[in-house]
Amino acid sequence: MSIKDDVKTYYGDTLQTSADLKTDACCTDESLAPYVKKALSILSDEVHQKYYGCGIVIPEKMEGTRVLDLGSGAGRDVFAISHIVGKNGSVVGVDMTPNQLEVANKNIPFHAEKFGFNNVQFLLGDIEKLDQLDLAPGSFDIIVSNCVINLVEDKKKVLTDAFNLLKDGGELYFSDVYTDRRLSKELQEDPTVRGECLGGALYWNDFHRFSKASGFSDPRIVSSRQLVIGDEKIQQMIAPAKFYSVTYRLFKISELEDACEDFGQVVKYKGSLDTSPNGFLLDGHHYFESGKWESVCGNTYLMLNKSRFAEHFEFAGDFSKHFGIFKGCGMDVPYLDESAVQADGSACC
Ligand SMILES: C[S@@+](CC[C@H](N)C(=O)[O-])C[C@H]1O[C@@H](n2cnc3c(N)ncnc32)[C@H](O)[C@@H]1O
Repeated sequence: MSIKDDVKTYYGDTLQTSADLKTDACCTDESLAPYVKKALSILSDEVHQKYYGCGIVIPEKMEGTRVLDLGSGAGRDVFAISHIVGKNGSVVGVDMTPNQLEVANKNIPFHAEKFGFNNVQFLLGDIEKLDQLDLAPGSFDIIVSNCVINLVEDKKKVLTDAFNLLKDGGELYFSDVYTDRRLSKELQEDPTVRGECLGGALYWNDFHRFSKASGFSDPRIVSSRQLVIGDEKIQQMIAPAKFYSVTYRLFKISELEDACEDFGQVVKYKGSLDTSPNGFLLDGHHYFESGKWESVCGNTYLMLNKSRFAEHFEFAGDFSKHFGIFKGCGMDVPYLDESAVQADGSACC
């Protein structure tokens, strides 16, 4: 059996509900924002029971947007997002496992009746071949995915296709499992370890390389947590590798650079998002308190200025003068500074 068949069997037959999982890799353990809690609270029991995600993939300001969910499973996130985007938005879910899709389709009437509209469509398909589905390039505002990309073999292809399907200024906002090292082939191919979202987990720095090569030049980490592997057998197999559930946001903005450069720009959050009146969290390193001017690197400036968040910020500055690498963005000048240069001007060697 191929890895793909193993995954279909695991999610279509082996698992019946999230209680059957052997680790907490595919279980969400995050405090929920009230707007997420509200959307989840009105969904059918069945889509909750068959939820196998590992994070929250419902960013702010989705109203009226067109959204694609990669590996939508039984549809929990699709239905929650359907309610949030409202009747002027739409959501497409893609999954390759017929049993998962059957549950998702069966649940459309329940949610349509509850919400008063249906803006949801599920497609049977392979997210490694998104370019072969009937989806127009540049037609989605947001692409989400919850604990799926680790399961596919050609992760770079998924990222490249997702990049092409997004509108300019759109984002891929997704949760997945990553490791602190490259895993052996045996671990990668073990059906249970892979099915539990561990075997296919990418070494985090390889993921950053793939993202950049696919056009997402500056991947941003929204949140992360180390996974607890409860099953002793699996624990022994994977040790000493560590696994993390991470939520990333990857903006499609052509001007983004692969590092944070300083152009002396500042931004101010207006406090105008209903969901965040006091401050806006762009990612784990960028929280903007309402009404306060903050210095930002060129990339952060672009993520706010060229995305759906622009109307909620004031901006000052441009790209006309460069002040070097932006301090505090996880990078510094990688060369010896002047303290390492001897009095006669020569550097020690
Ligand atoms: C861990 S489950 C997550 C499902 C859903 N996102 C959720 O949160 O409940 C992984 C899902 O990815 C789907 N999947 C895995 N590889 C896929 C591929 N290449 N194309 C489409 N779907 C895939 C599986 O069928 C399964 O439904």
